[in-house]
Amino acid sequence: MIPQETVQKILDTAQIFDVVSEFVSLRRRGQNYVGLCPFHNEKTPSFSVSPSRNICHCFSCGKGGSPAGFLMEHEQMTYPEALRWLARKYNIEIQERELTPEEQAAQTAREGMLQVNDWARKTWENDLWNTEEGRNYGVTYFMGHRKLQEATIKRFHLGYSLKDKFEFCTRALSAGHKRDYILSTGLCYGDPGQRPVNRFRGRAIFPYLNLSGQVVAFGGRILDKVDHAAMKYVNSPESEIYRKSNMLYGIYEAKQSIAKRDKVFLVEGYFDVITMAQAGIENVVASSGTSLTSGQIQMIARFTHNITVLYDGDSAGIRASLRGIDMLLLEGMNVKVLLLPDGEDPDSFARSHSATELEEYIRQHEQDFIRFKTNLLMKDTENDPLKKSQVIQNILQSIALIPDSITSAVYIRETSQQVHISEQQLTDYLNKLREKNYAAELRRQEAEQRRAEAQAALEAKRTEEGTSAESIPTEAPLSAESELPALNPEPARKTAVPNRITDQYERNLLRYIVRNGGQTFLLKYNDETGALQSEEWRVIDFIGNELISGDITYEFRHPVYARMFQMALDATEDQQKPFNGIAFFVNQPDPEISQTALKLADDRYEGLSFVDNIEDMSFLVPRAIMELKCAVVREQINQLQDALRQPGADFRTIMTEYNNLTALKKKFDKIIGERIVTN
Ligand code: CTP
Ligand code: MN
Repeated sequence: MIPQETVQKILDTAQIFDVVSEFVSLRRRGQNYVGLCPFHNEKTPSFSVSPSRNICHCFSCGKGGSPAGFLMEHEQMTYPEALRWLARKYNIEIQERELTPEEQAAQTAREGMLQVNDWARKTWENDLWNTEEGRNYGVTYFMGHRKLQEATIKRFHLGYSLKDKFEFCTRALSAGHKRDYILSTGLCYGDPGQRPVNRFRGRAIFPYLNLSGQVVAFGGRILDKVDHAAMKYVNSPESEIYRKSNMLYGIYEAKQSIAKRDKVFLVEGYFDVITMAQAGIENVVASSGTSLTSGQIQMIARFTHNITVLYDGDSAGIRASLRGIDMLLLEGMNVKVLLLPDGEDPDSFARSHSATELEEYIRQHEQDFIRFKTNLLMKDTENDPLKKSQVIQNILQSIALIPDSITSAVYIRETSQQVHISEQQLTDYLNKLREKNYAAELRRQEAEQRRAEAQAALEAKRTEEGTSAESIPTEAPLSAESELPALNPEPARKTAVPNRITDQYERNLLRYIVRNGGQTFLLKYNDETGALQSEEWRVIDFIGNELISGDITYEFRHPVYARMFQMALDATEDQQKPFNGIAFFVNQPDPEISQTALKLADDRYEGLSFVDNIEDMSFLVPRAIMELKCAVVREQINQLQDALRQPGADFRTIMTEYNNLTALKKKFDKIIGERIVTN
């Protein structure tokens, strides 16, 4: 966690020219510098950098910002990532908030693991190009068999791991890496007392880079003909630095292009990503052969909501994977499907076609997912009314997952035409489905909460008694009919499945930023002696401060709210400059943002009245933050529950964390309670 003084120091030190010129070549023009805008394609420079105002700005597309703002936009970093990047550049030491011994141990392990992974990546890259074995096997494989160019191989940091079982570990040890980390990253394996064996020996190496470019894992492909004795691919095991369900192969290399094109292609494998990138389509990531998780989707959603899933032409798995796509709809993505010609996968197709042919094929064959699914399933229903009705239910089930009511209404209209059933009938059925989904989701959350609490109590008791852990089974889902909470016959929009629990709290905070961001209020609190204190805060500064450095740091998840929050932070970096949230947001060129701001500013929206009273804000704003933090704590408690259920869970650490969280939750609940009472 970065202390506020350091944040300030970083922001004061960072120079816009230094930062931008790392990414854009700039020429002097009077007081300023100009260059080709990195945010859109252009031939004449309209991107201007002003050292005196310490900002950059594109006169054509409107993008730009402060040094941190530029990094965030251009490199798709989060605010803390940008701050750390700047701190490294200017050699500003970040004295992190003091950590508990457990956290400390955990953190150094993390760092040690990242370091040895980075060393391995360099070593394997070096061995690919600079050893005879590497050239004979690795380079021949990549360039000869897979037709990759040198630049592509280097861009993805592909490598080759020598065949010897033990020399890798010996080298790692003599380079100063701890045996513990060589094993915990999974680079090598071996029992205590044995010499660790290189897991990736004799394989082509694919490093997984996370969003900030750290190497968190590897994939290794066998070079020989695939036989049954050896696995074609081996991968790093999950570890403290690598959660498979939160990573996508290629995300680091693709993120800029994804943001710029506002679109991502989803493929299956390493070579699909790499060959497509080589062919000029860089906004590609791979799920590595498994179905997508919501963590992966949320990572993509930071950059775009438009996703196209690529299928092999002869893929028998299409039907099986329809379900996986529903996941994307649920997260609010616009999903398209691209079917490749028979017998081709993205790797082979991209290798045998030029960039223009590829683009042309995509343009002509990309299909909307719901339409695709409807066509695919309706094919089998000729003259079979029962089957037809099941298929329609299945399709409506997908539509019911779409959080946006306008989008789903459009789909209902289209589906109605495709299947020849009236819109009204489809809508009625859709609303029923949604009510059912909503009720089921509520019950699931409640059951999870109850189970979490019961389990934690049990664990606590067991820790005292020193007996071993055992988990309480998840409650069996109730059938949809029983114990339904009373449902108001509300419009469909309100009964859609809640997709991110935190959205409502984020929206609430953003309302204050839009309406009251530049106003000040008195924060009242009791100091250690119990005396009542008050501090004057500007609303936006207070919210920024609470979320970036507080008991709990938080990054907005709703992509539009996240952007708006960041824009407000950037716009208010200079605390002397007045900030009018409504004018600021409503005048933004991006319609998604100005529309959202308008809604938030509108008194009638949600029936909430405009707060202009400093007294009211003194409790409303801190309470809005508390509510969000409470939701996050609840979520973290749930995650700990999951962690506890893993075999070999580190019980002690989890319990310590659990106790910290419950203490925090109590504290927040209490504050919220008090504020509600005074309200
Ligand atoms: N995969 C993996 N681990 C495995 C098998 C597969 O991580 N044990 C992932 C890899 O990302 C792989 C993708 O799933 O690229 C698809 O697997 P597969 O179709 O078997 O491989 P291809 O990518 O087609 O590899 P190649 O073209 O070299 O045969
Ligand atoms: Mn393949």
